[in-house]
Amino acid sequence: RAPEPATLVIFGATGDLARRKLLPAVFGLWQDGLLGSAFNIVGIGRQEMNDEQFKDFVLAALKESKETDTPQPGSLEKFRELLYYEFGDFGGDEVYSLIDKELRRAQADHGGRKNALFYLSTPPSLFEPISNGLGRLGLADESEGWRRLVIEKPFGHDLKSARELNDAIHRVWDESQVYRIDHYLGKETVQNLMAIRFGNAIFEPLWNRGFVDHVQITAAEDLGLEGRAGYYEEAGVVRDMLQNHLMQLFALTAMEPPAAFDANAIRDEKVKVLRAVKEIPSGRVNEVAVRGQYGPGTLYGEDVPGYREEPKVREGSATPTYVALKLEVDNWRWQGVPFFLRTGKRLPKKVTEIAVVFKRPPLGIFPGGLERNVLAFRIQPDEGVSLKFSSKTPGQEMVLREVVMDFRYDAFGAQLESPYSRLLLDAMVGDATLFPREDEVDLAWQIVSGILDTWDTPAGRRPRKGPDFPNYVAGTWGPDEADELMGPDRRWRRL
Ligand code: BG6
Repeated sequence: RAPEPATLVIFGATGDLARRKLLPAVFGLWQDGLLGSAFNIVGIGRQEMNDEQFKDFVLAALKESKETDTPQPGSLEKFRELLYYEFGDFGGDEVYSLIDKELRRAQADHGGRKNALFYLSTPPSLFEPISNGLGRLGLADESEGWRRLVIEKPFGHDLKSARELNDAIHRVWDESQVYRIDHYLGKETVQNLMAIRFGNAIFEPLWNRGFVDHVQITAAEDLGLEGRAGYYEEAGVVRDMLQNHLMQLFALTAMEPPAAFDANAIRDEKVKVLRAVKEIPSGRVNEVAVRGQYGPGTLYGEDVPGYREEPKVREGSATPTYVALKLEVDNWRWQGVPFFLRTGKRLPKKVTEIAVVFKRPPLGIFPGGLERNVLAFRIQPDEGVSLKFSSKTPGQEMVLREVVMDFRYDAFGAQLESPYSRLLLDAMVGDATLFPREDEVDLAWQIVSGILDTWDTPAGRRPRKGPDFPNYVAGTWGPDEADELMGPDRRWRRL
């Protein structure tokens, strides 16, 4: 999977994401020799800086980030030589002609074609101007080398703006050149979900309404806002986590087996199942979805402020930080099998898992209740897969108890790579399997549209017909209504 000689052009190269995730991932890949010898990076920003200052900036970021692989002797200094910087106004032409000049220089150094990966790690309002600027100066044209565009989330603010953004991008780029990032797809254990489903014969026969009672997908975070109020106040949990990460986990869990492990076969199946999700009309949103916002509480023994007390959050903000949702899928496989999705900030711990909960045995011949078997994919932390089933406890009596068979990913003894390094390398070699396609993103917005229409409230007003926020205490599992969503016979897993 060695990429051809290429230049990585990072817009927003001095931003938070680049500093914390992207640059450490690029450095790790480069140090492992995965980016080939003919590779360089051009940082682009609006901030005035020369190459030397940028090199210092990157090295400081690498030294600071916990995600940076331990540098081998001399490798930071060598990496430094690959770095260049250009700045300018993203609305004008000058910065793009400077990029063109950088690509020519790289070509002179590397030989080969003028391949370039443009990574937009900027605020979303700049996606369109940058894409247009690259287009105006002919930088999306592939006659002199491949050209690809990587776009960070959020991809649009709602269905309408996502469609406008897709249209704008397609005026310049072919869909095959566009790589929309959802970093959850780069997580090793998310890919393992496909490996386990489609690389084994024992799971697929059970993976349907005949055997599955329901599915639970949880992405719980212990962190609060982390100083991101400016972004989060506009986004809220539905845009920040549900529309992208949770919808992707759902699609991978519920999709039909693809005929091949390639980008379009997999994305076609994801699209098919997203299309089969029963529409949530605005009038029914509060029957199938529960929202919450955390108030002050305690986490790991420490007091933490409520959402409204976080710096730069609007007074009386109605932004939800928790959502639980019941999805129904209108296809043969999943008829009558609900999918429960939940995610929130300031929950008791960081844990992401997908749990397939099976039906109870049809007849109870042993004393005590009948439990449901659960196959759980732990995405993070303690990555692994577990199967819960009932077993006899030792002794004279026929007493059953639930036990867990546990596979832990650390059994492989390897360090899990960061999702960003996986996705970056995929984009460099032109593999779009783990990048949501235009139609997937559109469908995911369609699914959450009714929720956004119902819950979005003009700044500073109380949510319409909604709960009084805050309605859960930081460090607890969210509002009580989320339990009611499951009905009398099901409950959220205790994680
Ligand atoms: C990001 C969201 O996309 O995902 C953050 O913007 C969230 O709010 C993060 O904290 C969670 O990612 P991870 O990989 O830590 O589970």
